Amino acid sequence: MIPAEEYRRLQTLVQVGYAINSSLEVDAVLDLVLEHGMHALDAEAGTFWLLDGERLTPRAVRGPRAEAMRQAHLRSGEGLVGQTVVLRSGLLVHDVRRYPLWASHVDAATGYRTRTLLCVPLEAGHQVLGALQFVNKRQRRRFDNEDLQLAMALARQAALALANSLLFEQTQRVHEGLIRSLIAAVEAWDPCTAGHSQRVSQLCAVLADHVGLVREARRQAEWAGLLHDVGKLGILPLLLRKHGRLNARETRQVREHARLGADMIARLNAGLMLQPVGDAVRHHHERFDGTGYPDGLRNQAIPLLARIVAIADAYDAMTSDRPYHTAEPAEIALHEIEAESGRQFDPDLARAFIAAGRAGRLALEPLPMPPAVTRTPAAAHSAP
Ligand SMILES: [Fe+2]
Repeated sequence: MIPAEEYRRLQTLVQVGYAINSSLEVDAVLDLVLEHGMHALDAEAGTFWLLDGERLTPRAVRGPRAEAMRQAHLRSGEGLVGQTVVLRSGLLVHDVRRYPLWASHVDAATGYRTRTLLCVPLEAGHQVLGALQFVNKRQRRRFDNEDLQLAMALARQAALALANSLLFEQTQRVHEGLIRSLIAAVEAWDPCTAGHSQRVSQLCAVLADHVGLVREARRQAEWAGLLHDVGKLGILPLLLRKHGRLNARETRQVREHARLGADMIARLNAGLMLQPVGDAVRHHHERFDGTGYPDGLRNQAIPLLARIVAIADAYDAMTSDRPYHTAEPAEIALHEIEAESGRQFDPDLARAFIAAGRAGRLALEPLPMPPAVTRTPAAAHSAP
């Protein structure tokens, strides 16, 4: 028969293993490890410290004064946590005040009183990612060697999840950097749209929030907004900068940017994550009534993200100064979107966008009364 204490420790490891295998969200995993670890060790608080260069900062915190603890930081080698990282071995301290290297400034800053502490390194292969610490065993008891063994087993599991997640975050950052470079290139290619991609992205996020899209879809909407005109890199700047009316052939060429943009995103090869973004880029000039391009899709056949970008794109085009028109006041642009609801735009999304605008979420400008200049009516499209 397994003793109750041993059974509880094994159960903790099984639960943590299950949590790690069933969640891709590293912060959720770390929080669960802390929760189960604190329960099994009867600890009052727990922290995952992450090493970035020479600096250690908390990535996940549980226990009293957790908010203040999130602001703390240490140098590598500083205090018990820093020593754990440098020595790459677990430390068990029964009274931190007797430990000469104890970094008391963390307690001073958080207002928390640390008595006993158990700290183990987070190692993945040859790399030290940080440290896992548990603080103050309840009822004034001391952490013991069995506690240390359990903490080390938890740290091994968490370090693997953390290493995978850090690699994923690094890949994400490379992709984001690449995307931002592409946006900078588009805006250099077509200077009259400077800042347009960023604003469309923000407007997409506002609309996504207003219609209750989940976090991942909202993020894709932001990326679609950023990238919607990336295909302009494949269009002659002469055409993009032309002030006069485009002839039929030039119009056809400029319209190619939607298809070209989707092809460029497909070549980024970022897997399934960018596929909906590529679809939105391809279809951001479709019209709800089926008269848009490149495929003449209509109604719900147009991807949702493309219908969102279409509204954000048109709104920003109308409310920005361009060589061929003066910026419209926001209220007039919203009227235009209302007028095109069901024709150019998805009526449900148009309604939500207008509501967001009237609630002040698009940073509406006050409508000048009377207008100071005669304004050239802007088309509700930013490209032919
Ligand atoms: Fe476009």
